[in-house]
Amino acid sequence: MRFLATASKGLEEVVAGELRALGLSVLDVAPGLVAFKGRMEDGWRACLWLRAGRRVLLPLGSFEAPDADALYEGAKALPWDEFLAADRTFAVEAAVRDSAFNHSGYVALRVKDAIADALRERRGARPDVDRRDPDVRIVVHIARTRADVSLDCSGGPLHKRGYRIKPVAAALNETLAAGILLLGGYDGTVPMADPFCGSGTLCIEAALMATRTAPGLLRAEPFGFERWPAFEPQAWRAIFKEAEGALRDAPAPILGSDVDGSAVAAASANAERAGMDRWIRLKRRDARDFSAPAGPAGLIAANPPYGDHAGAGEDLAGLYSAFGDALKRRCPGWRALLLTGDGTLAKAIGLRPKRKIPLFNGPMPVKLLEFEMYEGTRRGSGGGAGEAVERDARPE
Ligand SMILES: C[S@@+](CC[C@H](N)C(=O)[O-])C[C@H]1O[C@@H](n2cnc3c(N)ncnc32)[C@H](O)[C@@H]1O
Repeated sequence: MRFLATASKGLEEVVAGELRALGLSVLDVAPGLVAFKGRMEDGWRACLWLRAGRRVLLPLGSFEAPDADALYEGAKALPWDEFLAADRTFAVEAAVRDSAFNHSGYVALRVKDAIADALRERRGARPDVDRRDPDVRIVVHIARTRADVSLDCSGGPLHKRGYRIKPVAAALNETLAAGILLLGGYDGTVPMADPFCGSGTLCIEAALMATRTAPGLLRAEPFGFERWPAFEPQAWRAIFKEAEGALRDAPAPILGSDVDGSAVAAASANAERAGMDRWIRLKRRDARDFSAPAGPAGLIAANPPYGDHAGAGEDLAGLYSAFGDALKRRCPGWRALLLTGDGTLAKAIGLRPKRKIPLFNGPMPVKLLEFEMYEGTRRGSGGGAGEAVERDARPE
């Protein structure tokens, strides 16, 4: 079977890597999409394990739909009886790009009518629509005149891990947080710190990786495929048990801090809900005072405030500059991944990034900047921490 894993732009190769690590063969990597091959159970495993993937879709059909009639007829001809019994509920979501259809809502409505009519004609009864909690979610993508119709194997977005019980403003999407860590090569074996931790998303995703916890193990809602007619609970239990068997203790510390005490409280509640609180040390601290803990060097991953985010109105350039100093002076040997949507603020850090990776934070184009704070020769008198990384940190 051919599946599609959807991904935020810039994270497609990360998702492809995740699928390969699951032993699945990747067929194609396109903007926002990774096609892979496997048996039905492999689609279930992908739903359970993918960290950076947004959804797993099972394509049902692709056809030309230059107008509403063609869309209706094309959708009606698909094998709905295999996936939708009359006593099940369904919902249709649509997205359109460069197409004669201006309204995704209209596309969803035509496809919904086509499905209902097809099943009424073939079976004499039609399933009901339930937009909030359907048994079967159908996803329609129209690009120019081509319509792709899929079943949503994941049953809604995979970022809904179930641990975000206390949100904070400008919290990162869980799949983006995981993608950032995977882009940075984090594997849980080195210390990780987020000095702007907010609700703790990066720390919790790091802890899930470090403990080899499949994110789907936490999920409160059933996956989409669990409500399909072809679902085999026994096979699913075996896949779930296998994931439970993979758990390990986190090999290295994970540290989160934030200047805002209520953010630290939120991170603490979320980490506890995720079952990761024993691996994450949280505290209230200004990032300007950040210093790497003693011991082996590790990875800093953070999205400091920028633009409309929390903290706007403050002297953000001053904050970035002071945090850059903390990196240079007090984090020798560490790497830092900073997500920011503001190039001017990024420059205020005062370090030249080793990599700049374009990503999207929701609809907002952002950059992930990677910095390496090499342990340099100490220069000048006294060998104070301020000089520790002068040589290789390559100030801008
Ligand atoms: C964009 S949010 C981070 C969101 C976080 N990644 C999450 O997923 O919830 C930025 C965070 O930086 C914190 N912050 C602002 N100024 C700070 C400072 N000087 N030191 C530490 N944290 C600060 C804010 O309280 C806010 O929680």
